Amino acid sequence: MKVFDDEKDLLMDHEYDGIKELDNHMPKWWLYLFYFTIVWGVLYFLYYTVTGVGMDQHEQYAAEMAEAAEKYGFSQDGEEAIAAVSWSYETDDASIANGREIYMSTNNLCFTCHGAAGEGMVGPNLTDDMWLHGCSAEEIATSIAEGFPDKGMIAYGSGARISDDDMTDLISYIASLQGTAPANPKPTDTERATQCGIN
Ligand code: HEC
Repeated sequence: MKVFDDEKDLLMDHEYDGIKELDNHMPKWWLYLFYFTIVWGVLYFLYYTVTGVGMDQHEQYAAEMAEAAEKYGFSQDGEEAIAAVSWSYETDDASIANGREIYMSTNNLCFTCHGAAGEGMVGPNLTDDMWLHGCSAEEIATSIAEGFPDKGMIAYGSGARISDDDMTDLISYIASLQGTAPANPKPTDTERATQCGIN
């Protein structure tokens, strides 16, 4: 390998298989990029960690939810949302049809766990008069709004919040299933369920 005169000083004193190395400076643009990342890292750390001015993803989520709650006028907390309304079962066809639509929708997924006819699968049978968490309009609405995350049911079935009017229709549809005796009912959990009549 030929070494030019002006490279003599730069030549490092090792050689492998005829390959020699020059001790060149790193290019300026590379160094500036490197310094820039250091400054960026320090500022980032100050912004998010030391001063806490920047929001992390959980804080951003909470802030967006609060903004949406303000904009669309719902309460963020399931319990509060239920307490704010006096719930009752509707019996008109339009309410029940809409309730069924929500029950069967891929947004809320109720049917996937409670069966297309409410006969129960993963979730309990909703057509008999044996209930785990009560059968008043408010109790059913609470069951739906809060879900039972430890048992696999998240709030609103899939976390997709529904309006108060839709909730009324949904609980009305569930009430309308009382005594329908569908095929293949899931057996009652006799240890936990208690009798409770909706109608
Ligand atoms: C991923 C499965 C799953 C989905 C989806 C689901 N549930 Fe549930 N649901 C359950 C389970 C499991 C329970 C029983 C909780 C327990 O054992 O305490 C339950 C309980 C309930 C209860 C209380 C029943 C009782 O006996 O007190 C109601 C009412 C209910 N679900 C309605 C709904 C509605 C309406 C939807 C759709 C918005 C829905 N569920 C979506 C699994 C599900």
